[in-house]
Amino acid sequence: MSSHENLLDSLINHDIALPSTCGGGGTCGRCKIKVESKVNMTSADKSQLTEQELQAGYRLACQHNSDELKQLTLVDVTMAASHELRLISSVFLSPYIKELRFKSVSGERLEFKAGAFMRFFIPAAQASSIPVDLPADLLHHWQEVLHMDYEHLACSRNYSLANGDAQTDELVFTVKMQTSPNQKVKPGIGSSYICNLAPGKTIEAVGPFEEFFAIESAKTDPTSPMVLIGAGSGMAPLKALIEEQLIKFNSSRPIHFYFGARTQADLIYRDAFRQLAATFPNFKYIPVLSRVTSTEGNSGDGAKICTGSSGRGSEH
Ligand SMILES: Cc1cc2nc3c(=O)[nH]c(=O)nc-3n(C[C@H](O)[C@H](O)[C@H](O)COP(=O)(O)OP(=O)(O)OC[C@H]3O[C@@H](n4cnc5c(N)ncnc54)[C@H](O)[C@@H]3O)c2cc1C
Ligand code: FES
Repeated sequence: MSSHENLLDSLINHDIALPSTCGGGGTCGRCKIKVESKVNMTSADKSQLTEQELQAGYRLACQHNSDELKQLTLVDVTMAASHELRLISSVFLSPYIKELRFKSVSGERLEFKAGAFMRFFIPAAQASSIPVDLPADLLHHWQEVLHMDYEHLACSRNYSLANGDAQTDELVFTVKMQTSPNQKVKPGIGSSYICNLAPGKTIEAVGPFEEFFAIESAKTDPTSPMVLIGAGSGMAPLKALIEEQLIKFNSSRPIHFYFGARTQADLIYRDAFRQLAATFPNFKYIPVLSRVTSTEGNSGDGAKICTGSSGRGSEH
């Protein structure tokens, strides 16, 4: 194992994928392993594990490197596996969000529950803060973004699948390009790298991790409503869940989807959701905007306007 990588990533090289919902952030407590009890405790270990677990030698794999320990015992592993993925297409859905479609290079069709995510391995690279393929009509959104050429180290990042496994063998992701808050700081490393990847190129990923999913419709009350709330690119797993319920399971459950965005231009997949709402009477699509012009506010397409100093205030 490389001593520079955390154990969560190092174990992947040995085809061992531990559970994780925070993607190595030290906040989900799912990547538990057992080591010698003298191994240093990090603040994340202390916040996620009980005193008893800490004393018994449990630690979070994502918070430790392999050079810290001589041996470890696995507590739980997932069925997630490593895959080489080829980028099929990369298009802007909104000024800062891209839809990326991948296929497995091996030709294997991955099976996964809607809501799953994959962990991408971003190699060390040279990069630029402005997208390489920015369409002319989006240029004005990026004019304020400082042009910066930079280098970054390797890292791993998680992205949720925006589709289910029923419709296609493609793996669809929606990724928000994280811009830099100031000139001293690099833009988001993973999101910039993956969004600037050229179609045809490949990238390593592990998954799918099925940590977030809906209970099978046969096991739920068909009249109990499902309320989904998401914003920006964070709607990816919700889109997958909605399509799974409506198209794959033909569920009659009432499904309410509140989708938060700043402006109309940020309402990604708007036409697709409207089409679903028109086809399935049990599905309600409720876009909620936080920054609208007076024209947009009166566009009459049903978008709610969210106001207030925090941008999260009352709706009207
Ligand atoms: C389970 C899971 C699923 C996810 N699914 C999605 C998804 O579907 N779509 C999606 O877009 N994201 C998703 N994410 C988030 C994603 O994993 C990344 O966290 C996100 O893309 C940011 O990573 P990055 O490498 O681009 O940015 P980072 O390099 O991590 O930086 C984040 C931001 O911080 C700024 N920054 C960096 N250093 C500093 C500093 N010193 N001071 C101040 N600011 C700084 C950067 O400029 C950037 O704006 C998911 C996360 C998890 C855990
Ligand atoms: S992966 Fe979430 S705490 Fe380690």
